[in-house]
Amino acid sequence: MTTILLTGATGYIASHTWLALQAAGFDVVGVDDFSNSSPMVLERLAQLSGRAPVFERANICDAAAVGSLFERHAIDATVHFAAFKAVGESTAKPIDYYANNLGGLLTVARAMREHGVHRFVFSSSATVYGEPERLPIREDAPLGATSPYGQTKLMGEQMLRDLGAAESAWQTAVLRYFNPVGAHESGLIGEDPRGTPNNLMPYVAQVAVGRRAALQVFGSDYATPDGTGVRDYIHVSDLAEGHVAALRHLFDQPGSITVNLGTGQGCSVLEVVGAYAAACGRDIPYELVPRRPGDVAACYADPALARQLLGWQARHGLARMCEDSWRWQSTNPNGFQA
Ligand SMILES: NC(=O)c1ccc[n+]([C@@H]2O[C@H](COP(=O)([O-])OP(=O)(O)OC[C@H]3O[C@@H](n4cnc5c(N)ncnc54)[C@H](O)[C@@H]3O)[C@@H](O)[C@H]2O)c1
Repeated sequence: MTTILLTGATGYIASHTWLALQAAGFDVVGVDDFSNSSPMVLERLAQLSGRAPVFERANICDAAAVGSLFERHAIDATVHFAAFKAVGESTAKPIDYYANNLGGLLTVARAMREHGVHRFVFSSSATVYGEPERLPIREDAPLGATSPYGQTKLMGEQMLRDLGAAESAWQTAVLRYFNPVGAHESGLIGEDPRGTPNNLMPYVAQVAVGRRAALQVFGSDYATPDGTGVRDYIHVSDLAEGHVAALRHLFDQPGSITVNLGTGQGCSVLEVVGAYAAACGRDIPYELVPRRPGDVAACYADPALARQLLGWQARHGLARMCEDSWRWQSTNPNGFQA
């Protein structure tokens, strides 16, 4: 059996990836400190997979704890999700973001090297493209970050490139996610933001379920078809499959890769609101308000390289993303809090 270490394992994207990896025949060892997730995820994963998750609660910046994981489990590769991810918060707390996102990455990479494990999948983000000059965005587009969070992703990518240049044993897959949304088709796991959601779909979901009165749409005068911001929403289960494909690639072929994981389709805020209203059968009240500083008009991927290198492409459209999000939200109106 091939064993994969998942860091940030009980988080939104990792929990879906955990199921996809098991379904593909991998063994999984999960680690998380629950700084942004709930232990209840483990119960749901057990329910869905029919097996007890192999999991340890630890902070991945703790070198002794991470080293001990590699001592006790025969790990073949790491998928590194653990990070803080709120763009706005990163501007207010840059030290926390650099320490956790880069310190965690360094600690995991060092433990891997000490234990002769060199296959690494890194959660990067479309945020590394900053303000895109050209659409759709290809992997060779200019890079730039507009927040400390984005910087941690850019620097993480650079650290991995330097590591690969210094030690040829390393094989890394840098995956630049566009906008992950939706939930597992069972409705048992999904995104459970703490406090006010930073992203559009969880916010819309909370309006739909009655937790929030109305959505504020930031900017209706962009140069887009309906004036609202356009993004590349990708179903989290498709994203999870992208990780399976990336791991298979690392086990089958030498070298490192950097790929976009997106659908290639841009959807506007108002299209998302309309699709969500159709999925849940309720009106989504919204108001148009001025643009938010730092938001770009449009951002969507050129997904051709992932198709070519990994044989992977997203399968689910916006309607399915909204239906699955609604199933999760309506059956778990308070997320993982009972
Ligand atoms: N969700 C998105 O929109 C998005 C987009 C692009 C990239 N990403 C990246 O994907 C990864 C996963 O994102 P997500 O949306 O699932 O976020 P998430 O917050 O749901 O998951 C991250 C998990 O990491 C854990 N964690 C954080 N710091 C830790 C530490 N020091 N030790 C142990 N566990 C720690 C948290 O408790 C959480 O469970 C992150 O690296 C994020 O930056 C997310």
